[in-house]
Amino acid sequence: MSFQGVDHVGVGVSDLDPAVHFYGRHLGFDRVLFDWEGELTSVEPFAGRAPLVRVAMLENGSATPIGPGRVKLVQVLDGDGPPPVPAGQAWGEVGVCEICLHVRSVPEVHAALVAAGCEELMPAISAAVVPHDIALDISYVEDPWGTKLELIEWTGLWHSLPGPARAEGVNHVAFGVTEMARTRAFYERLGFTELLFESFDFFDPMAPWYVAPWYEPENLPAQHMTMPMPPQGAAIEPVVLDPPGHDCRGDWGHLGPMDFGIRVANIDTAAAELRADGVEVHGEPQAIDLGGGREWRTVAFEEPDGNYVSLVEARV
Ligand SMILES: [Fe+2]
Repeated sequence: MSFQGVDHVGVGVSDLDPAVHFYGRHLGFDRVLFDWEGELTSVEPFAGRAPLVRVAMLENGSATPIGPGRVKLVQVLDGDGPPPVPAGQAWGEVGVCEICLHVRSVPEVHAALVAAGCEELMPAISAAVVPHDIALDISYVEDPWGTKLELIEWTGLWHSLPGPARAEGVNHVAFGVTEMARTRAFYERLGFTELLFESFDFFDPMAPWYVAPWYEPENLPAQHMTMPMPPQGAAIEPVVLDPPGHDCRGDWGHLGPMDFGIRVANIDTAAAELRADGVEVHGEPQAIDLGGGREWRTVAFEEPDGNYVSLVEARV
């Protein structure tokens, strides 16, 4: 298996130090795997230049197999600094739109995050998803930099070890696409093979997020969501809106969730596999020497809707 699920979700922030502190203290991402500053040539196809950035890769010390993903905080340092959150982004337009953390006890973690300064976007509710009728608890908050954070406890799928209420790591990344069948086929080739759920109904608790002038509140788009899981690593949640929203990818590095990486054991053979399948891989991997024998290698590739996705081989 060359591909090992979602390695991390990239989040643009305006000031890295308070963001590292916030994600460590309140969201459990307390292991800073690296904190690097330099020119990120690997995202030149997305950014139109090799942006000067500071990047901090954070791991959750309580991560579990169902919340294994990391968070990559990015502060754009050149030009005018971090671009803004894409205007009019509700949820499901093309572009990355949320990070979902698996948590133990959604109501308790939700309340603690609101107390820590997050905006409440959706109070905790219990639900079940089709077709397998898997139970979950769910809520949403927004971090101080504009990222929609979904909190999920997959109670019908996973029994946590004993311990306090806490966030446990990235369970999935949600992003908008335009053709679900094409997206499913593309990511199935990258190891996202098991369909956890598929929904065609508008998720009513999200209705307040769709505001004028981009949406007519009385005439909201249909939402088609799926969640293909890989055998290991975090999952993806592609979404199709009907009618489609406008392109909300924004400028690479913008505030809020904006890209994600797929973990591979060997980036050269993984890139070769993609190329053999006709996928455009953008040049050779950038190798970032982190010192002490540690290295982070990444290369961007073209997914069907132009979402900002890369391969990652990390020795950290
Ligand atoms: Fe989600």
